Amino acid sequence: MIVGTEQRPTILIVDDILVNIKLLRQMLSAEYRIEVANNGKAALELAQRVQPDLILLDIMMPGMDGFEVCRYLKTDPRTDEIAVIFLTAMNTPDQEIQGLELGAVDYITKPFVISVVKARIHNQLKQKALLASQSAAPYHQQISTWQHNKTERVHSTRLGLMGEMASGMAHEINQPLSALTTYTQVSLNLIHAVNPDLIKLAEIAVKTQQQALRAGHIMHRMKSFCKAKAQHKSLVNMNMLIKECVKLCTDKLKRNGIKLIVELEHDLPFIHVDQIQIEQVLLNLIQNSIEALLCSPENQQRQIIIQSNLMLSHTIQVKVTDNGPGLDEDLQQKILMPFYTTKVDGMGMGLSISRSLIEAHNGSLRFNSEAGKGAVFYFTLPVS
Ligand SMILES: Nc1ncnc2c1ncn2[C@@H]1O[C@H](COP(=O)(O)OP(=O)(O)OP(=O)(O)O)[C@@H](O)[C@H]1O
Ligand SMILES: [Mg+2]
Repeated sequence: MIVGTEQRPTILIVDDILVNIKLLRQMLSAEYRIEVANNGKAALELAQRVQPDLILLDIMMPGMDGFEVCRYLKTDPRTDEIAVIFLTAMNTPDQEIQGLELGAVDYITKPFVISVVKARIHNQLKQKALLASQSAAPYHQQISTWQHNKTERVHSTRLGLMGEMASGMAHEINQPLSALTTYTQVSLNLIHAVNPDLIKLAEIAVKTQQQALRAGHIMHRMKSFCKAKAQHKSLVNMNMLIKECVKLCTDKLKRNGIKLIVELEHDLPFIHVDQIQIEQVLLNLIQNSIEALLCSPENQQRQIIIQSNLMLSHTIQVKVTDNGPGLDEDLQQKILMPFYTTKVDGMGMGLSISRSLIEAHNGSLRFNSEAGKGAVFYFTLPVS
């Protein structure tokens, strides 16, 4: 079957050895549109410009090697979704793991076996298509459309957010799953070796377990998010709710040398809300401030201020202000995205869950910040 050029997936071949490029091009050009680069810098430029579906990336190249190219690709939002398969002459588990940890999806060892190369490429593209069909638009594109469409944002319902989260989750879970596939493949290779290296095997088993746990953790967060849907509203005194949350955080604040200032407006009217959900929001905000303050210099007094205010007699506002590192403009664009995190152990769910909980109460959650000058996160709730 002849496939129209424009419909063919694009593959970028990156190798410094011309013979390899020629061979791969010959093997693949009937099915794929081929672009080539013979060094790392050219590969990065082409990847940004052409947006290939997949990159076959040689590891051993003069100048920027394949690992470095992969690191750049995976940190640039324009190229971080492109599948990378490493081409390597050396089939060592260490290299495979290093590449995987950088976000590569697979390895092909030289000399190439045509059927293997084709099958691996086919598998990756199939997986990618499957993910794409789960979300109509690429994840980051959906999110940025959502962010720039203010009307939609205001009316964003819990259900809508769950749709976004589902595509985010598909994206997130694909990473541990790809890692699991490769770790188990590496384990099998080790087991079949003449003298199996049991220590290495144990190391890989631990990594395999960590990835499986991460996938489980993502599912768990999603499940608890869905569960929170049923609201149990009652008349709540916001100042009491704040005091309850403060009690829960006191130890952690002390342990981390954080001074807490609580400024509550007297005689706030009661509000009709789900107390547990609003507590969850406030605890998320306090927890984020605590985590942000852990990065602030030792000689600076770490501080969080929690305030409640009555605005125009019909809205209660709760503010959490910290003097941590704050957020630069780029971060500000991203932090409300489900699964966006800058923390090693973060899930990036706290703010998106909080925002949806507040919006489900007809309120809004916002923030102001300047890099280096702390952050203030605040939510408003209507007085019914
Ligand atoms: N007070 C703050 N100061 C600076 N950065 C913040 C603050 N609060 C949130 N952030 C940034 O926003 C990101 C997203 O926060 P969010 O609460 O959604 O996820 P998380 O804290 O990373 O993970 P988790 O799902 O465990 O809450 C954080 O990773 C952090 O970079
Ligand atoms: Mg958080």
